Amino acid sequence: MYSQGLDIGADAGRAAASAEELAREEAFQRKIDQEIKIEPQDWMPEAYRRTLIRQISQHAHSEVVGMLPEGNWVTRAPSLRRKAILLAKIQDEAGHGLYLYAACETLGVDRAELIDQLLSGKAKYSSIFNYPTLTWADIGMIGWLVDGAAIMNQVALQRCSYGPYARAMVRICKEESFHQRQGYEIVMTLARGTREQRRMVQDALNRWWWPALMMFGPPDRDSVHTAQSMKWKIKRFTNDDLRQKFVDVTVPQAHYLGLEIPDPELRWNPERGHYDFGEVPWDEFWRVIRGDGPCNRQRLEQRRRAFAEGAWVREAALAHAAKRRARRAA
Ligand SMILES: [Fe+2]
Ligand SMILES: [Fe+2]
Repeated sequence: MYSQGLDIGADAGRAAASAEELAREEAFQRKIDQEIKIEPQDWMPEAYRRTLIRQISQHAHSEVVGMLPEGNWVTRAPSLRRKAILLAKIQDEAGHGLYLYAACETLGVDRAELIDQLLSGKAKYSSIFNYPTLTWADIGMIGWLVDGAAIMNQVALQRCSYGPYARAMVRICKEESFHQRQGYEIVMTLARGTREQRRMVQDALNRWWWPALMMFGPPDRDSVHTAQSMKWKIKRFTNDDLRQKFVDVTVPQAHYLGLEIPDPELRWNPERGHYDFGEVPWDEFWRVIRGDGPCNRQRLEQRRRAFAEGAWVREAALAHAAKRRARRAA
C-alpha cells in the first residue's frame, strides 16, 4: 500500500482516497461497536444507507398495506365497542407508516419515490398481509399473532444503530403491545364462547399459524442480508432466533385457551429449553413473496385506487401551502 502511495498520477490519488475511505469505514464500525447511534448528518457507507432504505421502506409499506385486511371488518365488527377499538388500531397502523416514511426520508430518499415503488409492485411488504380475513376470529388472530410477531421484531429494532429508526420504534412498540392484547382478548372471548365460536377461532388459528411464523423472514441458511445487518447492528437477532422466541411465548398462550397449534411436530424440548416445531412451508412463503399469494393483486389494486382517489387531497394541500406562501410574501 505504502509503495503504491509513492506513485504519482491518478492511481496515487485513488489509493489515497481508498485509504481515507477505509479509515472512515473503520471509524463508522467503531461507533457502532460502541453503541453510538448513527444520525442522518453522519457519514455512513452507501451500502448501510441502502440497506436501511430498503428495510425501513418495506416496514412502512407493511404498516400501510396491513390496514387493508382489517379494514375489511370495520363495517362488520360485532359491536360498537369492537368497532371503535378496531378503528383506533387501524389508525395507529397508518401513523406507524407515516413515522417510518419520515424516518426513511432522513436517509435522503423521497417519499413519493418509495410510494411509487410500492404501487408499481417493485417494493416488497410483509407476506402476511396477502392472506384474507374470512371471519371475525381472523381479526383476533391478526392482533394476537401478527402484531405479536411484529413486537418480537420491533422490540429488538429499538436498539437499531440508526437513530431515527430506533426512536420511531419506541412509540410503535407501545401501540403494538395494545394491539396484541386487544387481539388476544378477541380470541379469548371466542375460545370461551359457544361451540361454533370455538370452532371458528380454531379454524382461524389453523390458517394464520404458519403465515405468522413466516413473518420473521427466510430461515437463517437462506437469509442473504443477516450477517452484514448484524454487524451493523441494524438487526440484533437472526430470523430463526426471533421465530423461536415467538413460538416459545405463543404456544403457552394457545394452550391456556384450549386451542391446538396446527403442527404435529410441536413439542417441548427440555434439553434445549425451547419448543421444537415442524418445518415452515417455505414454498408457500416464496410464492407469496413473489406476488402469487391469495390476495397480492387485490391489495396492490386497493392501494393504487386509494392513492388515485387521494390525489385531490394532496393537490389541495399543495395549493393551500402555495397560497399561504404567496400571502406571506405580499
Ligand atoms: Fe404497526
Ligand atoms: Fe399493530
